[in-house]
Amino acid sequence: MIEARPEDTVLDCLLTIKRTVDPTLAFRYSCGHGMCGSDAVAINGTPTLLCTATVKDWAKPAGTAIQTDDEGFRRTDGVDTTADAADAGEPQSASTASDAASLGVIELAALPGFPVQRDLIADIDPMLDQLKKLKPALEADGVLATTKDGKIDVFEYLQNPEQLAQYERLTNCIACGVCEGACPVFAGGDAFIGPAALIWSSRFINDSRDVKAAERMDAIDTADGVAACQSVRACSRQCPRGIDVGEEMWQIVAKVRER
Ligand code: SF4
Ligand code: FES
Repeated sequence: MIEARPEDTVLDCLLTIKRTVDPTLAFRYSCGHGMCGSDAVAINGTPTLLCTATVKDWAKPAGTAIQTDDEGFRRTDGVDTTADAADAGEPQSASTASDAASLGVIELAALPGFPVQRDLIADIDPMLDQLKKLKPALEADGVLATTKDGKIDVFEYLQNPEQLAQYERLTNCIACGVCEGACPVFAGGDAFIGPAALIWSSRFINDSRDVKAAERMDAIDTADGVAACQSVRACSRQCPRGIDVGEEMWQIVAKVRER
């Protein structure tokens, strides 16, 4: 049991648990403010960020017949409350107040779709590998700008506001993996490179300064690329950066197919 307030984040709770109950509890975080994307987990089965999820938004009524072991962890199958749920990569939960019934229960698990490294830490390398494969860096031909007396000053990469608007929203992606964890097709990235990789690819395909759009579209015009997207749109619901991932998937799939 720990003390928590409704406005506390789930990350606050975990830090308290780590300081006061179980120093071995493993979870990943960095900025604490929804900017770095390092702390994606499943909360009550939904992929989201620990640092932006508040107790009041996610605590469920304690409900009936919740079985907890001596350390406060709960088994959702109600069978074996003594097994090491962390080692098994199964959901764990912790009461979030001294009186669990007052604030309820939050169930946590590592981000779905990825191998569990330990406790709430998922190995997101499969996503990062897919991102890297698609070469997520601008490849642009700069225009030489000169000073009044004709000397070379700087390279300029000119773009008007309408061209910027084509891709600017996609630059908000922080590669947290929440959309991948929500995608029923991704599951580790073998069959589908995943929505995050396609978002990053789309970000450069839609950038008027980038000169590799054709190659980038070739790279995702594959069986495990746009062809694998089933348009389930589960990826849209929880993007912490407000990207309508499902809609963006739709746009990039159409763009590749209509070439
Ligand atoms: S699109 Fe959104 S949910 Fe997906 S990785 Fe980027 S920030 Fe995370
Ligand atoms: S800790 Fe950086 S996004 Fe949550």
